[in-house]
Amino acid sequence: MPVCEKAYAKINLVLAVTARRTDGYHELQTIYQNLTLHDTLQLTSLAEDKIILTCDDPSLPVGPDNLVWRAAERLKRFFRISRGVHIKLQKRIPVAAGLAGGSSDAAAVLRGLVRLWHLPQDWEELIQLAAELGSDVPYCLFGGTALGTGRGEKITTLAPCPHFYVVLANPGFKVKTAEIYHSLTEADLEPGYDLTPMLRALACGDRNGIVANLSNTLEAAAFRLSPAIRTLKDKLAQKAPSLMCGSGPTVFALFTAQEEAEEAALSLRREGTAVWLTETISQPTAGGE
Ligand code: C5P
Repeated sequence: MPVCEKAYAKINLVLAVTARRTDGYHELQTIYQNLTLHDTLQLTSLAEDKIILTCDDPSLPVGPDNLVWRAAERLKRFFRISRGVHIKLQKRIPVAAGLAGGSSDAAAVLRGLVRLWHLPQDWEELIQLAAELGSDVPYCLFGGTALGTGRGEKITTLAPCPHFYVVLANPGFKVKTAEIYHSLTEADLEPGYDLTPMLRALACGDRNGIVANLSNTLEAAAFRLSPAIRTLKDKLAQKAPSLMCGSGPTVFALFTAQEEAEEAALSLRREGTAVWLTETISQPTAGGE
């Protein structure tokens, strides 16, 4: 029997880069939030020892260059599995857009293979595997609303964020996460960033407090490299409180009223911008379907 998993997109309500590290990464304080927008993965066990990845987006690699493939290979090696797997990936989350699509797909493969092959649910080991695949893969294993520290891989689950309609707008080009991080200047860093007001707003379900405390250190670097991202954010910010997603280039706006979100999405779409109307999701189902 194949196993299905949903891989949800995420935004960061706060992404504060506090310091440079000596290992090439940056120290973060971030608040992750899942959206209903998701990719779907179907995993089928194979008798033969090989990993086959097929994807409805022909622009994506289907071998070791794809994080999904590497997640399966890494898990197989860790648990010494000699069976193979066919992974069918249906993409809906835009690629290299700051929405953790690839990380979420990789996490879904880890979850899905544990179910498919009835492996021990040793979450400490799985979190370790996930962290080796990417800084936000551990968050994607669990999803929901969570605090990330370290390079983003140390996760503390938070009370669910109150519901928002979320309009995503993408300027139509991809960005490289490493390039954005590495063009941060010393002056961009926020060593004393205080998460308390956002954590308090989340704990109280205070929507006004949440939108007042949206913040992303990476915007400065991304706007310098691609002024089109700032232009798009400014346009969206006329409709509702807005922020760049992760390392960009997608920007999001948070709405409480569905009609206002629909109106904003429609007006941007009319101008030819790629737009998604989605929603926050409080507790994604761990096992998909
Ligand atoms: O962890 P991940 O592979 O997603 O990171 C991609 C790149 O983004 C890293 O190689 C690094 O250059 C940068 N990065 C960083 N600090 C972080 C996360 C990512 O500098 N906390």
